[in-house]
Amino acid sequence: MCGITGYIGYRDAYPIVINGLKRLEYRGYDSSGIMMYDGKAMNLSKTKGKVADLEFIVNNEEKRKAGKIGLGHTRWATHGVPNDTNSHPHFSEHGDLAIVHNGIIENYDTLKKELTRRGYTFKSDTDTEVLINLIQEVKKNNKCKLGKAVQIALTNVVGAYAIAVFDITKPNELVIAKLGSPIAIGVGKENSEFFVASDASPFIEYTKNAIYLEDEELAIVKVGKDIEVRKIMDDSMVDTNIQTLKMSLEQIEKGGYDHFMLKEIHEQPKAIIDTYRGRMLPDQGIIKMSGVDDHLAKFLNADRIIIIACGTSWHAGLVAEYLFEDMARIPVEVEYASEFRYRNPIVTSKDVVIAISQSGETADTLAAIKLAKSKGAFVFGVCNVVGSSIARETHAGSYTHAGPEIGVASTKAFTTQITVLSLIALKLAKEKGTLSTSAFQNYLRTLAHIPSQIEQLLKIDDTVKEIAAAYKDAKNCLYLGRGFNFPVALEGALKLKEISYIHAEGYPAAEMKHGPIALIDENMPIFVIATNKGHYEKVVSNIQEIKSRSGKIIAVVTEGDTQVKEIADHVIEIPETLEALTPLLTTIPFQLLSYHIAVMLNKNVDQPRNLAKSVTVE
Ligand code: M6R
Repeated sequence: MCGITGYIGYRDAYPIVINGLKRLEYRGYDSSGIMMYDGKAMNLSKTKGKVADLEFIVNNEEKRKAGKIGLGHTRWATHGVPNDTNSHPHFSEHGDLAIVHNGIIENYDTLKKELTRRGYTFKSDTDTEVLINLIQEVKKNNKCKLGKAVQIALTNVVGAYAIAVFDITKPNELVIAKLGSPIAIGVGKENSEFFVASDASPFIEYTKNAIYLEDEELAIVKVGKDIEVRKIMDDSMVDTNIQTLKMSLEQIEKGGYDHFMLKEIHEQPKAIIDTYRGRMLPDQGIIKMSGVDDHLAKFLNADRIIIIACGTSWHAGLVAEYLFEDMARIPVEVEYASEFRYRNPIVTSKDVVIAISQSGETADTLAAIKLAKSKGAFVFGVCNVVGSSIARETHAGSYTHAGPEIGVASTKAFTTQITVLSLIALKLAKEKGTLSTSAFQNYLRTLAHIPSQIEQLLKIDDTVKEIAAAYKDAKNCLYLGRGFNFPVALEGALKLKEISYIHAEGYPAAEMKHGPIALIDENMPIFVIATNKGHYEKVVSNIQEIKSRSGKIIAVVTEGDTQVKEIADHVIEIPETLEALTPLLTTIPFQLLSYHIAVMLNKNVDQPRNLAKSVTVE
């Protein structure tokens, strides 16, 4: 995790670096720092806390802002507690070199012991300070330039990194390298300036030309010179592949909303349209998805589909299990990537593995993909971030096209993942003949209607606020759902936990009687999904069981419902749709509810404590 950014060129670097850090704060926000080179010295400012705290410190002293070269870092602590000293950038002991690093150097302890034996001392507890001193030691011993020293040092490193390194004795260049953590290099006109960042958002208003380094690549950028990219291990030159970015500035700004999360909740109708645009063609009665079309036989002949993911993406995977099995009659297993990768799973070349990830950088998912590939499986990615590590590591895939998701709590990523997975399930069902043509057409028509239904649902904000006000002080909450909506119950509970810090559990409604029922009393709010299809009567019975134990019932029902309305304390109505598509609607009230509770409790909605948007550590 952690966000890194840097600049070298003809502009004042400070505004670029500090604004870049603000955009990358979703990656980590327990401490931050900046190094500005003013032509003579490297000025370092670091602090525990948010980028705003860093900005406050720097604003008090003009000198800290001067220079055309800067490196910045916003941290999610791994080695060493969040404090001023452990914040990046880190300098080498001799003070010539500065580094910002995203990742983990796993063999840092061994390296540190060796460097200590050679007389090095360390100010921080970080693995990063070990790395910069290792680079210094290599540079000294080999009497080589910075690029070579970084390259040699990295061949001795076990772990993951995206780094940018500056050498005060060669102040016209930056050295950038990657293994496992993402890094983008923005290229200015005629190489007059270069930007470095964990993603392209910090430099989008300056250049649309970017290079995404691949694993084990190292780049040397020098103002006015061509970029040099090499393979770290064998020193071979790599052709630079400059891509044109499609991202726009509005996409990464709040656009009048108080929080990114609220903006992203409201973006869902458009995001879902962007997801199915050009793929779902109801007039022709087909779904066109090149990633699937090109490998159709793999899917159709698969013994089973294994879905791997983490967090919210795992919940989308659970929805997909219901979709694939129900529509296409293909057996599905859904696995936490972190468990899958370490449990010696049985995977064969007859399996299709679908890896789901918003960021495309989640370390556990990435490792699980590599494992599945090594066992011969065909691996298909469902990612949001274009060009991400997972998008590149998989054999084929479909992007969700949700646009940048900045709020740490996933919202539009979830609904667009479900949309992509629904399209794949429908496509396979059509190909296999497990769904009639009329049912298939009906799904397409109904799915096309979902965005406008979400628009309609988003208008219930006031009702949700009332419910949020009534239950914001609850200590524990239960979320219940069945069938397609069981994963939505899990996702509802996760949303509440992560941004309001209220303990919440999601359960299949019928499981309640096997344990959670013991928790129910008059203080316990229970959020139940009771749409008119999918075991409605059985869920109504569960609601009765809650009522007779004095639990507070907040039910999500289908428009026009009368039965649950009579029993529940509050109801939220969703528009009528097909049962398999209800998760796209039932999840919306839960997103809004968590959002409003977190706001009412004065929590940091977009940057909840201890979390980060992309979890690039295991
Ligand atoms: O980027 P990914 O989809 O791979 O991320 C997986 C989880 O880290 C993520 O969904 C996390 O659970 C979110 N904070 C949930 O809102």
